Amino acid sequence: MSEAGNDHWIFGYGSLVWRAGFPYAERCPAWIQGYSRRFWQGSTDHRGRPGAPGRVVTLVRDPGATCFGMAYRLTPQDRSDVLDHLDHRERGGYERIEAALHFEQCGEREREASTAWLYIATPSNHNYLGPAGLDEIAAQVRIAYGPSGTNLEYVLELARFLREHRAQDDHVFALAELLTR
Ligand code: BEZ
Repeated sequence: MSEAGNDHWIFGYGSLVWRAGFPYAERCPAWIQGYSRRFWQGSTDHRGRPGAPGRVVTLVRDPGATCFGMAYRLTPQDRSDVLDHLDHRERGGYERIEAALHFEQCGEREREASTAWLYIATPSNHNYLGPAGLDEIAAQVRIAYGPSGTNLEYVLELARFLREHRAQDDHVFALAELLTR
């Protein structure tokens, strides 16, 4: 097996792009294919409260689309603890899946494509909110807050990250624009 074949990566496309909250060996900007980011998952424990959920991102299947985010390479020593930690933290609606991972330039190095684990919210989970118009999403984001901070900060941090990396995401940018108008 190649060296790359032994690597284990986590792909973040939500708050993980700016805050990992677990130990890692390195982080690299990266993207996956066939998914689009949507503010369709309710958050009652991070960016909202029970009865007043915020909206956070999940991914939906979208052939031909790409989703840009941040990949974290786990050390062999930390791998199982990190996965246990994330599986537990995201148990309120997210499932862990695997996807092919493509890298942007990472430091001085060119990286070959690899695979990564990531978490997506399924429509069957009890916090799932599903599609809504951008105005409705913005109205909810404006007032929601939870133990991790305001929902507004979550959206704007995500938009800032994408802008910094010159990544395209019409859904995120349109929402951020509505919220800062
Ligand atoms: C993320 O930040 O990429 C993320 C983390 C957990 C669940 C869903 C998304």
